[in-house]
Amino acid sequence: PAEELARRIDAAKAALGDRLTILGHYYQRDEVVRYADFVGDSFQLARESQTRTGAEFVVFCGVHFMAETADLLSTPEQAVILPNLAAGCSMADMADIDSVTACWEQLEALYGTEPDEQGRVPVIPVTYMNSSAALKGFCGEHGGIVCTSSNAEQVLAWAFERGQRVLFFPDQHLGRNTASAMGVPLSAMPVWDPRKPLGGNDSETLNDARVVLWRGWCSVHQRFTTDQIAQARAKNPAVRVVVHPECPLEVVQAADEAGSTQYIKKVVDAAAPGEAFAIGTEINMVRRLADARPDLTIECLDPVICPCSTMYRIHPAYLAWVLESLLAGEVVNQVRVPASVAAAATVALERMLAVRP
Ligand code: 13P
Ligand code: SF4
Repeated sequence: PAEELARRIDAAKAALGDRLTILGHYYQRDEVVRYADFVGDSFQLARESQTRTGAEFVVFCGVHFMAETADLLSTPEQAVILPNLAAGCSMADMADIDSVTACWEQLEALYGTEPDEQGRVPVIPVTYMNSSAALKGFCGEHGGIVCTSSNAEQVLAWAFERGQRVLFFPDQHLGRNTASAMGVPLSAMPVWDPRKPLGGNDSETLNDARVVLWRGWCSVHQRFTTDQIAQARAKNPAVRVVVHPECPLEVVQAADEAGSTQYIKKVVDAAAPGEAFAIGTEINMVRRLADARPDLTIECLDPVICPCSTMYRIHPAYLAWVLESLLAGEVVNQVRVPASVAAAATVALERMLAVRP
């Protein structure tokens, strides 16, 4: 029963005291978020993992790539724990090291490896935070960098200073939305389809590329449509439509604003009483925003409930289990990035953290 779990989690948390810190992403369910010492977007959570050095155990209520990042940025003495190791991200799974390496080799064959007169290399790889540590390591090794949805524009600017082109993976939408807002024409953003056989991607469009977009997407955010925006506006012409940049370009363009989960929270926090919002992001977050501001009208843009099914895999029962195991002296579900990729992945993350926010 829920009350029994709550009692067990509270007791274990109190007994562990300062030895423990719990981090939670905005998409976690309320029954989990209530135990978090810090709740934020993926960029903030990466920063918190770096600064909360006092705790022996970092229990990460989010998805696997976030826990990997926390492991990379925390101290070697700290253990990062993901309450359910099956909490992955379907978008992150759309790019793996073998297919990115195969793509990279073809791009090298097409563009060469020599810098231009301004010293810019042919391609800079940029990986979205939503990717495995191996892909972050690939970027670290090849002069590339990591970005999140809150700094994608600054990171792309960093990459364009150093490279003639960018290979952006795994989320085509974040790459397209960001580059488009920076003035890159769609004709210079071909999509690389990793499912096509080698050589199956069109080298003619690749010739003029500024940003090569990986064909990945988020199953939650790809559901939002311009029809839903039209319906929300028909219902209330004053509604403010705010969406996450993992939504398709036409949705971002039809919205009033787009930004990371933290950005969306800031917009709602700053709203004047009586304002109405239609929000294009995960439902647990939208509901929490609505509960916190009963003076506003806040609805999800998609009337069909759309939780992130993998974030949802962090159930309070798993949280109780990992905390009680720690109390009993056993570290379960530790996420540890293999040493073979950790150093290079950290380089790519630190490049991101050094970029002006
Ligand atoms: P944020 O970086 O905005 O927290 O988003 C992470 C994510 O997984 C969105 O789907
Ligand atoms: Fe991955 Fe989408 Fe879930 Fe974010 S909302 S963790 S991108 S599947």
